[in-house]
Amino acid sequence: MKELLVLAPAKINLHLEVLGLRPDGFHELAMVMQSIDLMDQIEIYKNEQDILSLTCDDKSLRTDQDNLIVRSAQLLIRKLGLQGCGAHINLKKKIPIGAGLAGGSADAAATLMGLNAFWKLGLSIEELEVFAAELGSDISFCLKGGTQLCFGRGERLEPKVIGHSSLAIILIKDPKVSVSTPWAYSRFRDLEGNRYLREESEFEIRREALRKADWVDSFGEKRLLPLRNDLQHVVSSATPSVRLALDLLGGLPGNLGVAMSGSGPSCFALFPDFDTAQSLLFTHQSRLKAVGLNSWCCALTQKGVQIAK
Ligand code: C5P
Repeated sequence: MKELLVLAPAKINLHLEVLGLRPDGFHELAMVMQSIDLMDQIEIYKNEQDILSLTCDDKSLRTDQDNLIVRSAQLLIRKLGLQGCGAHINLKKKIPIGAGLAGGSADAAATLMGLNAFWKLGLSIEELEVFAAELGSDISFCLKGGTQLCFGRGERLEPKVIGHSSLAIILIKDPKVSVSTPWAYSRFRDLEGNRYLREESEFEIRREALRKADWVDSFGEKRLLPLRNDLQHVVSSATPSVRLALDLLGGLPGNLGVAMSGSGPSCFALFPDFDTAQSLLFTHQSRLKAVGLNSWCCALTQKGVQIAK
């Protein structure tokens, strides 16, 4: 019997700026991340043998120690010294894999929150965030979700309270293509590394500029947004389907901005509301399919991972 259902929303990047290189080898970033209502579902069941097991409806995904869900559960067990704790987790995968939508990170965040409830650990969100940051750069964002400024590796969050926004996106991805995030950052470093900022004071100037950016304050209003993704040109120059997706999205009438998400290859266009995006997608979906692109219409959401029952 299913004991718990956790919903794990994907994210898009409205802004991804690479500031420089950190002593730990990661990049120092300034981002605006946004949750969307494309969600994986994590079902947690009692495991009669009190061991940890994982199944997934997408057979292309590994379910061994490599999977962030397994690593998240094992981190909780190790760090808290838990004994005799088991669970069977079933992942219903809706977020495309290797797409720049933080699907794996959302699943990890949902696992931390779900097992916290399932095993009655009593950890606060802030305590879960410490584990999240250890597992990956985007997992803290996925826990809280909504609209957040993300600094550091991506794990330092500053929430942006924007209330309800009716904005929606059309999201496009070539199902045959996925991009490795380490590859995208190392290619960016090869091409742009000589222009990296070096001093903390220079990083802070860029963070402050983003905090004060007009478009971030008025985000949610129905006007053109200056979306930015520094990884876009390095990924698109090596990935024809990203160029095609950006081109097709840019040609859709009434869009408020077009960009690649994260390290790609998925790309999105923003629209003033869900109905506009949906009717445009209805008109263009067969054309997108004909050139091999999958597409979705999604609303923006102010929620991170949530326990549904
Ligand atoms: O933290 P996460 O596992 O998502 O990072 C995947 C890879 O992306 C890292 O190993 C690193 O190569 C690159 N990355 C980076 N700087 C960041 C985040 C990720 O260079 N801030």
